Amino acid sequence: MVNYKDLGLVNSQALFAKAITGGYAIPAFNFNNMEQMQAIIMACVETKSPVILQVSSGARKYANQTLLRYMAQGAVEYAKELGVNIPIVLHLDHGDTFELCKSCIEYGFSSVMIDGSHHDYNKNVELTAQVVEYAHKHDVTVEGELGVLAGVEDDVKAEHHTYTQPEEVEDFVKKTGVDSLAISIGTSHGAFKFKPGQEPQIRLDILAEIEKRIPGFPIVLHGASSVPQDIVAEINQYGGKLKDSIGIPEAQLRDAAKSAVCKINIDSDGRLAMTAAIRKVFVEQPAEFDPRKYLGPAREKLKAVYIHKIQNVLGSNDKA
Ligand code: G3H
Ligand code: 13P
Ligand code: ZN
Repeated sequence: MVNYKDLGLVNSQALFAKAITGGYAIPAFNFNNMEQMQAIIMACVETKSPVILQVSSGARKYANQTLLRYMAQGAVEYAKELGVNIPIVLHLDHGDTFELCKSCIEYGFSSVMIDGSHHDYNKNVELTAQVVEYAHKHDVTVEGELGVLAGVEDDVKAEHHTYTQPEEVEDFVKKTGVDSLAISIGTSHGAFKFKPGQEPQIRLDILAEIEKRIPGFPIVLHGASSVPQDIVAEINQYGGKLKDSIGIPEAQLRDAAKSAVCKINIDSDGRLAMTAAIRKVFVEQPAEFDPRKYLGPAREKLKAVYIHKIQNVLGSNDKA
C-alpha cells in the first residue's frame, strides 16, 4: 500500500473549497506518457495553478500502474525543481468498478472517480457509497456522477445526453458521501461533439438548479474540450483527415467555472494539439526520425494549450 501523502500529493478537498469561493475551477488534464505529464507540470508551474493529473483506466493500462506512481511522485519533485510547489492531485478518471478504485488507492492515487452513471440510480448509489467508504478510510476524495454525457460517436446530438436531474442530487450526495459530483449539462466526450453550424449551449439553468439544492457542493464538468478550429485545420493541412466538428465554447466554460463548478476535465484538446505538432514535423521534415524532434514540439504545443486554458477558461492561475 502506497500512501499518496508520501509521494507529496494532495487530495482534492481543500482545492475545491478554495475554488468554489474563489470563482475558478481546477484543471483536470489527462495524461498517458511523460511528455504529457511534463507539459501539464510546466504549464501549471508557469501559471502557478493547482492541478489534477488525471488517469483513465485505459491510460493506466497503457502506462503501467507502478510507473504511474513514480511519475506522479516525479511530477511533484519536477514542479519543485521548476521553482513552484504547486498542489498536485493524482486522480482516477471514470473508474468503473470498486476493485479498480481500490487498486488505484493502493498505488498512490489521492482521488478517484467512480462512474456509476450508466447503472440505474440505486445501483449507482450503492457502488459509489462502497467506494467512498473505502476511500475515506485512506483520506482519498471521491467523485461520483449523475446523468449521462453523450459519447464519442460520430453523430453526437443533444438528444443523446441524459441531463442530470436536479431532484436527485441531494439524495445522491447524502446517501453516498461523495466529495464532488460530475453532472451532465450538455458537454460531451471526445473531439466530435457538435457539427459546425450547431450552437452548443451548456445548460447553466440546470447547473443553477443543482446548486440551489446542494449549495457550495463541488461540481465537476467532463467533456469540456473546445476543439480549437485552428488546431483541427493544422492537423488536416498536414495530412490529417479529421471531420469538421466544434466543441464547447470557452466563454461558456468560463461562466461555469465562476459557479460551483470547481473541476473541469480536458483531454481531447491536448490530443489534438500533440497530433498537429507531430504531423507538422513529419510533413516538413520527413527525414527526421529522432522522437525528441517531434515529441518535443508536441510537448511545447500542449503546454501552450494548457496555459491558455488555465488563464482564459479555468481562471486557476496564481491560485497554487
Ligand atoms: O473521458 C475520457 C478521457 O478522455 C480518457 O479517454 O479512456 O481514451 O483514456 P481514454
Ligand atoms: P474531452 O474529451 O472533452 O476532453 O473530455 C475529457 C474528459 O471528460 C475526461 O474525463
Ligand atoms: Zn470524462
